[in-house]
Amino acid sequence: MSTSEEVENQQIELQLLLQAIYLKYGYDFRSYAKASVKRRILHRMTTDQFPNISAMQHRLLEDVSFFETLLLDLSINVTEMFRDPTFYLALRKEVIPLLRNYPFLKIWHAGCSSGEEVYSMAILLKEEGLYDRAQIYATDMNQVILKKARDGIFSINRLKSYTMNYQRAGGQESFSDYYNAHYDHVVMDKSLKENILFSDHNLATDGVFGEMHLIICRNVLIYFNRELQDRVFRLFAESLTLGGIMCLGSKESVRLSNISTIFDDISKEEKIYRKSLSLDKI
Ligand SMILES: C[S@@+](CC[C@H](N)C(=O)[O-])C[C@H]1O[C@@H](n2cnc3c(N)ncnc32)[C@H](O)[C@@H]1O
Repeated sequence: MSTSEEVENQQIELQLLLQAIYLKYGYDFRSYAKASVKRRILHRMTTDQFPNISAMQHRLLEDVSFFETLLLDLSINVTEMFRDPTFYLALRKEVIPLLRNYPFLKIWHAGCSSGEEVYSMAILLKEEGLYDRAQIYATDMNQVILKKARDGIFSINRLKSYTMNYQRAGGQESFSDYYNAHYDHVVMDKSLKENILFSDHNLATDGVFGEMHLIICRNVLIYFNRELQDRVFRLFAESLTLGGIMCLGSKESVRLSNISTIFDDISKEEKIYRKSLSLDKI
């Protein structure tokens, strides 16, 4: 068999595997960016010494725990507190003044991973005096990672860099006020959790999520192809109130999507957008 035929066959096997995941377990990775999905599947194939992707498919259909391993492989959960501190500075400066106009705030963190981003938001809202009027919905498709987020327990090894991020993000207190330290981990202060609801939501298959004033979906769309990104932008546009805010990750943009004109720029640099107030754009 020629090399190009091998590559073509592997591509077919990969598509069949993603189809099998969808049909058997309901998780839809068929519209994720191909290169990244392929890299992760091939990595699992080598680690577990499968001869080819079809052999993995066989195991996947019969063994739910193998599916759970693959799900963890495919949902990349890298995150940190106050990730990209300049983004949080822009939130304080450009977005918080807009949020002050609402008597009640609904905020959605989509693809929240283990929760570091959500606790960062809770801290920021407390410092800005807005936490008590906020309801934060934190969602992810991965139930294992959501449990971690709900527990709010993080390794102490990461605290040094989190503290630096917090300070660079305009933090006004001592970061240690927000957690209790134990031997090798910290537990986030329970007052931060009071207005957070963690729940399961899949951006590829689930629907609109309430009337939100602010949606944060950072470093998630980067793993999706253009069609799936468009689906999610439509979902966000429908979930936002008029004038609601949408925040993306530094490598993501709404500008190539077919509903780009619905969103005005608040910060081009930090990928913060506002759903238009003028109805004729919608
Ligand atoms: C790289 S993390 C980003 C975490 C956080 N937003 C940040 O920027 O630090 C990507 C997260 O998106 C989640 N994710 C991937 N596909 C998803 C989908 N279809 N629906 C909901 N969450 C998804 C993953 O489980 C993972 O927790």
